[in-house]
Amino acid sequence: MYTDLHCHILPGLDDGAPDLEAALTMAEHAAASGISRVVATPHHGGAYENEAPAVREAVELLQQALDRRGIALTVLPGHEIRVYDRLLDDLLDGRLCTLGGSRYLLLELPGGRVPGGFAELLHELGVRGIVPILAHPERSSEIQRRPELLREWMDGGLLLQVTAGALTGDYGRRMQAFSLSLCRANAVHFLASDAHDVVVRKWHLADAYALAARKVGPEQVAAYRANADYVARDEVIVPALPARNMSLSRALWPWPFNIRVKG
Ligand SMILES: [Fe+2]
Repeated sequence: MYTDLHCHILPGLDDGAPDLEAALTMAEHAAASGISRVVATPHHGGAYENEAPAVREAVELLQQALDRRGIALTVLPGHEIRVYDRLLDDLLDGRLCTLGGSRYLLLELPGGRVPGGFAELLHELGVRGIVPILAHPERSSEIQRRPELLREWMDGGLLLQVTAGALTGDYGRRMQAFSLSLCRANAVHFLASDAHDVVVRKWHLADAYALAARKVGPEQVAAYRANADYVARDEVIVPALPARNMSLSRALWPWPFNIRVKG
């Protein structure tokens, strides 16, 4: 049984589950695939406004519905925050949810672009004891072009979450190759589903762990799983060092040059 740190299961808040029935169906699939706990991370910032009280209320209602149906899944409140100008002010004002009320905060880059002042934001969060986690770095074209950016941010305390479906190849071979490169460079701290539904953007997490165990190593998978639990319990994560004997960019450089991508 394991924890999934990133999903869009709360009904009607974003582009995830549209209603309670869809959310319950997602929950049934999650539980059947071995997930016992999820952090619900509706989008906030950009096109979506879901402030913390609304998220917490939605979590409470969903948990009640799950308990009534006898679905063995625990839901914690969180956010996937698209980096925006007032992020820090809003966090300090209590408008944002960290993951399960922990010190960990899930961020995504707007349109995959690195906004100005991003490194400063990471620093300001760190000063306040908040540990930022970047969702799906593999999806950012800027990071694909300049993976060495990650090294600098990780040195400043950023943790990385790769999407399970990217690693399994469900979102294309290029994305899979880049995700694998990140994992092999010890640059990944979590796999998470980023589930939106049960058809396309689904849980994928069990498959991703199985694939990572084969292609990256069972120790790394154990670390991914343990790290997700540490977040849920608000415990300290001591990350493995990313590929220190070479620059991260060199470690990642196989993409796309040395990996033959067909189709
Ligand atoms: Fe997401």
